Amino acid sequence: MENYVELLKKNNQSHLLKYIEMASESDKKKLIGQVEKIDFEQINELYEISKKDNKKIMKSYIIEHTKFTDKYKMPEDKFEELNSLGEEIIRKGQYAVVTMAGGQGTRLGHNGPKGTFLLNVSPKPKYLFEIIADGLNKANKKYNTVLNWYIMTSVENNESTVNFFEEHNFFGYPKENIMFFKQGSLPLLSEEGKLFVDEEFNIKFAADGNGCIYKSMKNEGILDDMKKKGIKWVFIGAVDNALLNMSDTCLLGLAISENNEIASKSVVKINPQEKVGVFCKKNSAPAVIEYTELPLGMAEETDEEGELLFGESHIMCNLYSIGALEKISEQELPYHSANKKASYMKEDGTIFKAEIPNAYKYEAFIFDGFNYFDNISILRGRREEDFAPIKNATEVDCPETAIKLYNDFHKGE
Ligand code: UTP
Repeated sequence: MENYVELLKKNNQSHLLKYIEMASESDKKKLIGQVEKIDFEQINELYEISKKDNKKIMKSYIIEHTKFTDKYKMPEDKFEELNSLGEEIIRKGQYAVVTMAGGQGTRLGHNGPKGTFLLNVSPKPKYLFEIIADGLNKANKKYNTVLNWYIMTSVENNESTVNFFEEHNFFGYPKENIMFFKQGSLPLLSEEGKLFVDEEFNIKFAADGNGCIYKSMKNEGILDDMKKKGIKWVFIGAVDNALLNMSDTCLLGLAISENNEIASKSVVKINPQEKVGVFCKKNSAPAVIEYTELPLGMAEETDEEGELLFGESHIMCNLYSIGALEKISEQELPYHSANKKASYMKEDGTIFKAEIPNAYKYEAFIFDGFNYFDNISILRGRREEDFAPIKNATEVDCPETAIKLYNDFHKGE
């Protein structure tokens, strides 16, 4: 009894005592159990992050542009050489694919995991998970293999994701080659640093960001499973790109030929203002700088040929050696804070529905894993072949734009 009271008072969370008082015996037990599991030291550190000025912090780094290879501007013999290097690995069964599907998809506003969103493509609508399964089935045929497919879910959406796959018979993908694993979560905090409680007397948590994939792959036994299966290279991609190429042999060949442990696909920014993160060097190490942190002057800088110096967008299309994944999984990636809307139960038992952002959410970013390496390979692809994101409900990067890109790419199949 004393423990949790002291704990809450000491950590500036005494408002939770009111919830504990008004809860039924079983809810009380549950809530106290959750309080006791919270790492308050970490919560206090996270709250500090929200108060920091990122733009100011960025100014303390040396940001430089970085080199990349254009997939379609290399000599033909080099292109062929890279592709055959990559193909050999895939054919030997040393390649696996991971889909990150633990996000909340708040901007899209779909009810359910984002992968269960039905995209109205031709000739028949397909779920986002189905598009991925189809892409992998196609690669399996082409390279005469069966790729092991790992799917990262969150505490929130794991059950509904697994049920969805079962209901749809795994979209014809060999079930024994699919493995689901869960990422972690972190509490949401109010602008005053307070924990939220929902109507079922649970402390509100949210997924801890796609950068936590490295740690989750280690903790959930995925890296061990891959090693047991002889996998040497792992592609990690997002669930919400209808044109994601998960088996680009040129990307894999480039990493091997450049002797790098990470390779990443980019597409050129549509314009300097496009809201995407771009590849750069941060204090000499490979990094991605968020559009919010790149000063406009730098975003508009061009080289002598008129190309943007910071124009290679990171499109969540990343490839790693198993050793690279192990190395990053041992690191503590930084958390970033984002303003989000969070509904919650007020202390009088009524529900507060947020119309504007009222909460801090903490996430690690996948690209923060890059800076543990001296170099990574960057391959510039083409938007019309590689990138049809579904982020928003309307206007940009939305189902309508993705449908057009998908249909154009698959025309005539
Ligand atoms: P986004 O960063 O675009 O986030 O995810 P989101 O959750 O899909 O959408 P919003 O921001 O709430 O609108 C890019 C990819 O990273 C995955 C997503 O599922 C998507 O494939 N992701 C994101 C995770 O797997 N876990 C996370 O915690 C966050």
